[in-house]
Amino acid sequence: MDPQLFRCKNIDQLIADAEHPERRLKKTLGWISLTALGIGAIIGTGIFVLTGTAAAGEEVLVPSLMKAPVLDVLLHGSHALGAAGRPGAGPAIAISFFMVAVVCGFAGLCYAELASMIPIAGSAYTYTYATMGELVAWIIGWDLILEYAVSNMAVAVGFSAYVNSLLGTFGIQLPETLSTPAYQPGTGWLPHFNLIGFLIVMLLTVLLVTGIKESATSNSIMVGVKLVAIFVFILFASKYIKPINWKPFAPNGFQGILTGGAIVFFSYIGFDSVSTAAEECRNPKRDLPLGIMTSLLICAALYVGVAVVLTGIQPYHIFKGDAAPVATALHNIGLDRLQRWVTIGALMGMISSLLVYQYGQARVWFAMSRDGLLPSAFSKVHARFRTPHFATWIAGFVVGIPAGIFDIGTLADLSNIGTLFAFVLVAIAVLVLRKTQPDRARGFRVPLVPLLPWLSIVTCVLLMASLTLENWIRFFVWLIIGLVIYFAYSRHRSALNPAPKV
Ligand code: ALA
Repeated sequence: MDPQLFRCKNIDQLIADAEHPERRLKKTLGWISLTALGIGAIIGTGIFVLTGTAAAGEEVLVPSLMKAPVLDVLLHGSHALGAAGRPGAGPAIAISFFMVAVVCGFAGLCYAELASMIPIAGSAYTYTYATMGELVAWIIGWDLILEYAVSNMAVAVGFSAYVNSLLGTFGIQLPETLSTPAYQPGTGWLPHFNLIGFLIVMLLTVLLVTGIKESATSNSIMVGVKLVAIFVFILFASKYIKPINWKPFAPNGFQGILTGGAIVFFSYIGFDSVSTAAEECRNPKRDLPLGIMTSLLICAALYVGVAVVLTGIQPYHIFKGDAAPVATALHNIGLDRLQRWVTIGALMGMISSLLVYQYGQARVWFAMSRDGLLPSAFSKVHARFRTPHFATWIAGFVVGIPAGIFDIGTLADLSNIGTLFAFVLVAIAVLVLRKTQPDRARGFRVPLVPLLPWLSIVTCVLLMASLTLENWIRFFVWLIIGLVIYFAYSRHRSALNPAPKV
């Protein structure tokens, strides 16, 4: 095997750079601030958008194994349950939400160990570049693009659905050609474009290029608003629950619960960002796991609450293909004023998540370009605004255009499989580094190694296997494109290449 593929950035150099007095970050964060950070990053669109479709499932025009969960195909071959469409979890989606929180907990601990080993602000890309080598780092970086970019496409589509529903409460209806995606699994391709999804991403891109960054205060306000929207929904709508709607509880058994879980996994994406604050923690050993676990627990409790109420106030099957189920349910039970307020809260939450991910994404590209793995234009900084404007514009178009074309389910599923795969790689990295670098100091150590990283790997793979065959194929195509770029371009341009002799 070519040793170049496994060359690492010098870890001691990275740490020494970070410890440089001028660059040292202040160690001020405790577990409460970490929890707030986590909740802010986690809650976005998923809970308001995917709960409905994950409960209801999806019917397809032409039955095909491509639409069946891979696990189901492996177990039942051509008789797979999902061939006629994706099986819904029904009201048992509440169980899916809880289960997924546990899976994320395992992954979160692995992230925390890696982050605390190389206590520099950064993402899994930087950690792996310093420990596992260039090829694995490239794969993770390429995968992070899926996590950030594709999940933001999905958030933008959800945003558009809720704007439409808000406009509807004022009697305004946008033409379908401009408010629905060009591709939907139920209808195939149509000459449509989701204009609002595209426009919100471009608007935020302009803000990011000119240097507007969310301040801690505005972030806390937006986090507060989205939490209030969820609380208000649970509190007021729960009075309209009819237990008959919870029957049957799990119409597609465990497969439905698993597939539902693989879809709503999206609503937990973002908790890994807590681990990136390792360098700013007062006591990473205690505060990192506590922050990750508490934010996951709080979100899980809220999500389970929303799932129980949503499927209790309306029969789950009405949510088929509905991108704004919370708004639909409130409208159907006659709570139009509440629908308006909850929608505004949800929209605020979505804007803050879009902003954070567009910001983060441009930074990952920036870092990969500085390392020579992407063209140098990506690490150009604007002369006046001092922002990575090129990377930010590209991120805007790369996210905005598909947000106008694809439906939320297709995008969220792709983002989920990419993120789950990154979690698998992170858990493997923990296991490998315990063997190859046992003596390196770790601010936080995963307990019960190797059991816990293995649990993380197995449960993430199980969720991946609960996604459709079609989604796996898209993911492989994505990985292959990434590897082609790496071998054709990045590898030869890497900043770790020896300087040419003169
Ligand atoms: N967890 C984020 C959301 O639900 C991605 O929007």
